[in-house]
Amino acid sequence: MNVQALEDGIAARVYGPQEIAAAVGRLARSIAQDYAGRSLVLLGVLKGALYLTVDLGRALSELADGPSEILVDYISVASYKGDRSSGKVELLMDAEVAIEGRNVLVVEDIADNGLTLSFLLAFLERKKPNSLRTCVLFDKPARRQVEVPLHYVGLTSPDAFVVGYGLDYQELYRNLPYLGELKPEAMRRL
Ligand code: IMP
Repeated sequence: MNVQALEDGIAARVYGPQEIAAAVGRLARSIAQDYAGRSLVLLGVLKGALYLTVDLGRALSELADGPSEILVDYISVASYKGDRSSGKVELLMDAEVAIEGRNVLVVEDIADNGLTLSFLLAFLERKKPNSLRTCVLFDKPARRQVEVPLHYVGLTSPDAFVVGYGLDYQELYRNLPYLGELKPEAMRRL
């Protein structure tokens, strides 16, 4: 399914590739400033933050006064929602990097009800990092069920099901180069 075919399922474009790239650039600049001269672990949450973690890591490495070193790793969780179950989050794959004593930045695509990040922060805190922060590209505040600290936020998401730039609907649309609202009929069709 190429981008043209995916477009049929999109009701509205929310943020284009340039707006997303600019937001990633802003995130990189604040992160670089805060972690200047320190070692940083970018911990991407699979699979939604796959693109963001790569782009953020690249943007950080292009800045002169950023972290002294950047380790990139991924962690994988599954969250069950809606009719499938009620907000249960489960760890599918742990990070390989030893977290203890490190400055860890959890990189997540979107904060929706907040349960995923809340679960991850509790899980990672037990590994005794030196510092633990969160970075989300999209914040969907309308749906929050649990308060979770968002230290770096790129853009605000509308209160709708959005796809693209890593965000999927049943594994589709991740490769859409922009963020779009999914048509309800596209959900039924799959
Ligand atoms: P939370 O636990 O509700 O905060 O949601 C976090 C995870 O749910 C994200 O990493 C996404 O995988 C998924 N998610 C939440 N909202 C959306 C959406 O609008 N589109 C696609 N995935 C979403």
